[in-house]
Amino acid sequence: MDATGVAVVTGASRGIGRAVALELAARGFDVVATMRETTAGAGLAEEAAATGGTLRVEPLDVTRPETITMPSGLRVLVNNAGLERDNLPLEETPLEWWRDIFEVNVFGLVEVTRRAIPALRGSGGGVVCNVSSSSILAPVPFYATYRASKAAVSAISESLRAELGPQGIRVVEIMPGPIDTDMLRHSQASRITPGTEVYQPLAEHMNANKTNSVASLVYPVADAAGLIVDAIVADDGPMRYGCDPLSTGMLEAWRSSSDEEFMTGMLKSLGG
Ligand SMILES: NC(=O)c1ccc[n+]([C@@H]2O[C@H](COP(=O)([O-])OP(=O)(O)OC[C@H]3O[C@@H](n4cnc5c(N)ncnc54)[C@H](OP(=O)(O)O)[C@@H]3O)[C@@H](O)[C@H]2O)c1
Repeated sequence: MDATGVAVVTGASRGIGRAVALELAARGFDVVATMRETTAGAGLAEEAAATGGTLRVEPLDVTRPETITMPSGLRVLVNNAGLERDNLPLEETPLEWWRDIFEVNVFGLVEVTRRAIPALRGSGGGVVCNVSSSSILAPVPFYATYRASKAAVSAISESLRAELGPQGIRVVEIMPGPIDTDMLRHSQASRITPGTEVYQPLAEHMNANKTNSVASLVYPVADAAGLIVDAIVADDGPMRYGCDPLSTGMLEAWRSSSDEEFMTGMLKSLGG
């Protein structure tokens, strides 16, 4: 697609959303960078203008439908806003945490998308870009809550791809690996500490893995944003993309293996 018309990004206050908003503006889109607290967007319009881009900041909380409005001329929606909580064995994870995460990562995304579809249709088509996670490809212990929410995003993306394709609206799913943002830094810094003793060896393995393996693969957010916008404008591209070396490699391995081969390899890498 040509980089023209309006692009809306959710969760653009920081991290991947902020970087994608700036990259979309630099490429020529008229960007609406949405966020819960617009004070977090101070300076963002000026930063975009420095690369010749146009960007405005608007309030939008994906869990508060009254804040969700879509501009006319909408060509691109990036569903980026996301939440992760501390990771625990499923039996120790309060149901309330599941509800919090699904409220943002799934129901919020659904409500924003429901409202964007008529606007995209009104513009003659466009792109819905959903940010899930490469973690859904791997049987990562203690991440069931987050991974389940992102697997829901993935399934939603598949159904939407079929529903919206005939209307000229392309659906793209981005499955990031470790991108250098607050979310990843928090995840890397926090230790998995199950209360139930039987989980402790696996938790120790996972904690060591964060320090030893993941840390060396963390990818700069601006580079990830470049790959995400490449995927958005690639008319003939596939539905799923990584946006860093780890996720791109995982996606390639997943595409070229059987389910069982892939799962066995992943379990081995987790020490299983
Ligand atoms: N970084 C990674 O390694 C990684 C890997 C896989 C997937 N992802 C996914 O990539 C996306 C962006 O993550 P990130 O790493 O940039 O995380 P981040 O730095 O923690 O930023 C999260 C963004 O989501 C926003 N948000 C949270 N709840 C919201 C709500 N109710 N309404 C609107 N915005 C809300 C936050 O806004 P506030 O500033 O107001 O809190 C913030 O802008 C997420 O969907 C995440 O799950 C990230």
